[in-house]
Amino acid sequence: MTPISNGPGAEDRHALFDLSSNTNLLGSSPEALKAARAQIATLSEYRYRSDELLRKKLAAHYSLSENQFLAANGSLELVDMIGRAFIKPGDECILPSPTSLIYTDYTRLAGATIVHAPLDPRYFEPDITGILTKVNENTRLIFLASPNNPTGSIITRPQLDKLISALPPRVILVCDEAYHQYITEPLSARAPDYIKLGFPIIALHSFSAAYGLAGLRLAYALSTDALIRRLRRWQRPFMINSVSAAAAIAALGDQAFVDQTVRSTTREKSWCYDALADLGLRFWTSHANFILFRAPGETHILANQLLKKGILVRVGEPFGADGCIRITVGPRRANKAFIRALADILHPATKPR
Ligand SMILES: Cc1ncc(COP(=O)(O)O)c(C=O)c1O
Repeated sequence: MTPISNGPGAEDRHALFDLSSNTNLLGSSPEALKAARAQIATLSEYRYRSDELLRKKLAAHYSLSENQFLAANGSLELVDMIGRAFIKPGDECILPSPTSLIYTDYTRLAGATIVHAPLDPRYFEPDITGILTKVNENTRLIFLASPNNPTGSIITRPQLDKLISALPPRVILVCDEAYHQYITEPLSARAPDYIKLGFPIIALHSFSAAYGLAGLRLAYALSTDALIRRLRRWQRPFMINSVSAAAAIAALGDQAFVDQTVRSTTREKSWCYDALADLGLRFWTSHANFILFRAPGETHILANQLLKKGILVRVGEPFGADGCIRITVGPRRANKAFIRALADILHPATKPR
């Protein structure tokens, strides 16, 4: 059997339910869609030479200065700029494991050596002592995602306090908070709170998940004036386009959509937990819009069996989550179809919920 690709390539498009890409179960912010449609009437013009308008809106949203933001075409582009701005050959970058693949390529391209700091394998919490033992005179960047992809685990305030109080000042912490809106845990650390206090942290936020705008490609970095100034040297004119900028500005004002997204995702996540437990599967409680579970057997085989039943999922191996599968929490119809397919494969004789 040929293993399926790790992403939704052309060969996988026959899947009826794509639970592989952490997209928003409700679609897109209606306010963002309205603004994007209106902006299309101006496509003949050169608008948004810079990200200034969006930065103004972000500054008001966070009560920070507009000089503390920089917008780009998605988080990957921000990681690329961070690599160019802060890495020189020989520097080391610490990444948790398992984690998203987006931090590796561009930091390596900039000359960094990647050092992995495994998450605590039981609950995938960051092992702060473990990270600190990897810090040396070559360490330049530490990437931590909260919630982390694919585990859905977060960094708590005591964990982040312990980490930043022990780091030498030359080390920059990059906190990827692409899914932060989904967190309901009060102990969770929020990078903007630390940035307000002047800590050398770069937060990455994205419009892809909670605002449902993955196709527009828009994300921003939020940090101290000084670090954003360094990053801005790598920003191109017209780096973001007029449609995505207008949509993002409108999305920031659409808190009702984010609230509805979080409510629906939390409800559906809980339904999926119960259904996975009924099937006797081990899963990890997630603070994002996806769930990681342990596959009974080889992940590629199960992913292929699910694909044949019209369900596209993500295998964990490329992230370093061996033996696990990640599903995005979808609308009930998709979740039910997934659980039915899974039950059919694992326990053909029983009827699932
Ligand atoms: C942890 C994490 N950060 C960032 C991103 C990507 O965000 P963007 O769509 O802004 O590139 C993803 C998407 O999968 C992700 O999982």
